[in-house]
Amino acid sequence: MSNPNSLSSVLACPRCGRGPVTLERAGWICGGCSSGFPVIGEIPWLFPEPRQALSEWRGRLSLLTQHLGSEALAMRSSLQKSDLPAATRRRLEHVANANEDQIARLRTLLAPLGIEESSLSEATHRGLSTRLPTEQGLTNYYVNLHRDWAWGDEENKAALQEIRAVLGADLSGLGRTLVQGAGAGRLAYDLHAAGDAQLTVATDFNPLLLFAARELFAGRAVELYEFPIAPRRIEDHAVLRRLTAPGPARAGLCLVAADALQPPFADGAFDTVVTPWFIDIIGEPFARVAARVNLLLRPGGRWINFGSLAFSRGAHAERVCLEEVVELLPQTGFADFRSHEGSMPYMRSPASRHARIESTVAWVANKVAAPAEAPRARVLPDWLLMPDKPVPRTPALEVQAISSRVHAFMLALINGERSMRDMARMLVEQRLMSAQDAEPAVRTFLARLHEEMEG
Ligand SMILES: C[S@@+](CC[C@H](N)C(=O)[O-])C[C@H]1O[C@@H](n2cnc3c(N)ncnc32)[C@H](O)[C@@H]1O
Repeated sequence: MSNPNSLSSVLACPRCGRGPVTLERAGWICGGCSSGFPVIGEIPWLFPEPRQALSEWRGRLSLLTQHLGSEALAMRSSLQKSDLPAATRRRLEHVANANEDQIARLRTLLAPLGIEESSLSEATHRGLSTRLPTEQGLTNYYVNLHRDWAWGDEENKAALQEIRAVLGADLSGLGRTLVQGAGAGRLAYDLHAAGDAQLTVATDFNPLLLFAARELFAGRAVELYEFPIAPRRIEDHAVLRRLTAPGPARAGLCLVAADALQPPFADGAFDTVVTPWFIDIIGEPFARVAARVNLLLRPGGRWINFGSLAFSRGAHAERVCLEEVVELLPQTGFADFRSHEGSMPYMRSPASRHARIESTVAWVANKVAAPAEAPRARVLPDWLLMPDKPVPRTPALEVQAISSRVHAFMLALINGERSMRDMARMLVEQRLMSAQDAEPAVRTFLARLHEEMEG
């Protein structure tokens, strides 16, 4: 019988969803389908397609370091101009140096991803849509690292306070706890420290945040640059921060790399699931997110949610606010709902003129029944899973292919000699457009291109 507070006691295979997974010499192995999952940077890498996930994150790291490098080069080339104000010169030198130093720091922290193996150029990455930033970019929630571990305690204390407002001052009795989308990990660390849980699992899919959290949980410092969006002074454009935790985490705080939409956890594994600043960014309708949380909880288990409620994307009916949440929760198997609405500073960097005040909502609800509808795992089609299967040419793909062809054709017309009028004439000759439409179309295309290049 495994220890009920061990990590393996809450895990289930993210691939087959059935088997327990245990740590063997080669990594985590599913007892049901025998799939293997590596340990990367000391963290279980429990994605259903671990190699695919590794290669995607490696690609994002490569793109990020190439981007930092090309920005540094562009700054150094601006420094060649002799008429620059002295202060601008100082700023460009400062940020170019910081970018180059940050590349080395990121490479060291993320070395377990194996960056050397990614040889795609920045242009190829962009062509293949590993854009920067993307929904899943390495730096999307990068600033959270600095808020969690460098700026002082104001926001971290406020977050814990909002949770206490619905749970009470005493945070003992959370039991086996899962923090979904834990980001840089501070709330998971604080909850684990303030309560008496024997097991708190902090999970996220972003290895930059996870690897930094690993160091901080161990009581080690991490040094990385912050690049504030509205720097106050020249040196604030790039601030080398020393991230530290108040001390090493108490035993039982674990990190897991996983996709919340394909979670590697057994149904009913947790007494408490915490979703901080998470449910409205995951890209699923609220009812489905609630059903997912429900599945992870044991009967009677608690869901603690905290953060904003900003369901601004998706179908109109899915852009829910608090009243709708209250109505939907019973349908997803929750009762005894208690909430607290608060307001707190959000991302107030001491180096930046930019900060927000967020109106937050914290709630706790108990699982009293299974969800009416179980959430589907994100099922990938065969042609994405099997390299030999033909890729179907769907109508959506057809549209995409045509628009890419037009885009490529327009780009190819730019040879350093042709004017807009020459290009328009060629479009008419190729029967791609009428004479009337061609010139304005070329201008719109080039204006957008110019904007993107400048921006
Ligand atoms: C808004 S941040 C909140 C981070 C943290 N909870 C906090 O309060 O600072 C959302 C987090 O969810 C993570 N995330 C987004 N989609 C995810 C997914 N499908 N699986 C796992 N993590 C995800 C992001 O990497 C990010 O760290």
